[in-house]
Amino acid sequence: MLVIRAKNYEELSRKAAKYIANQVELKPNSVLGLATGSTPVGTYKELIRYCQEEGLSFRKIRTVNLDEYYGLRPDHEQSYRHFMDHNLFDHIDILKENTHVPDGLTQDPCAFGEAYDEMISVLGGIDLQLLGIGSNGHIAFNEPNQHFVAPTHLVKLSQNTLEDNARFFDSIDEVPPQAITMGMRSIMRAKRILILASGVNKAEAVKGMLEGEIDPMLPASILQLHPDVVLIADNEALSLCTPE
Ligand code: F6R
Repeated sequence: MLVIRAKNYEELSRKAAKYIANQVELKPNSVLGLATGSTPVGTYKELIRYCQEEGLSFRKIRTVNLDEYYGLRPDHEQSYRHFMDHNLFDHIDILKENTHVPDGLTQDPCAFGEAYDEMISVLGGIDLQLLGIGSNGHIAFNEPNQHFVAPTHLVKLSQNTLEDNARFFDSIDEVPPQAITMGMRSIMRAKRILILASGVNKAEAVKGMLEGEIDPMLPASILQLHPDVVLIADNEALSLCTPE
């Protein structure tokens, strides 16, 4: 895994956006795997700037998102569909029909998961997958577990994740307890992976991912097995790592 250090969140966001912009420029019909959460917000802002001020076009780009809260309607303020529209898609020239976010209202998560993974394959697989990391080491909503789960699936969110994400809701009781998440198969099949980590609350997970054993109790550690992963992290997120 290539580690790129940024001095702070702003620098991380600039570097990450540049990395993604290069992908878009070099392959204008790329399939981008996208993440939500606080970490990529600055990156998306910078991508909007590339599009609006520097002519970077997303016209032919296709996107697949990692996850969606189970039970939230797409127009719910905290749905990940709403997040993506609000933080990126509404401000760039992407065609909405080329953007895909898991269906949080599906009545049959198992069949939905299979169909979502199949749709990713039909698109030609993910060219560049953007990831954040949970403070417990989750990627997408693949939570610490006894084993890695391959397909897109319904997952029960851990107490740790409910607490972390309560900041987006009025109270922890309003955080949906389940989500539909891309599984490890589609993530690990991505041709390239870019993972972002910012802040001291990610330091332990980042250390485990980089220096620990591959262990489903720290889901991001699976990335050690992928041949093309770049981590862009700020000083705080790298603060527990052994200096090179
Ligand atoms: C979001 C996602 C999650 C987040 C992670 C970090 O689509 O898949 O894995 O990337 O929970 O979230 P933030 O960036 O809010 O710290």
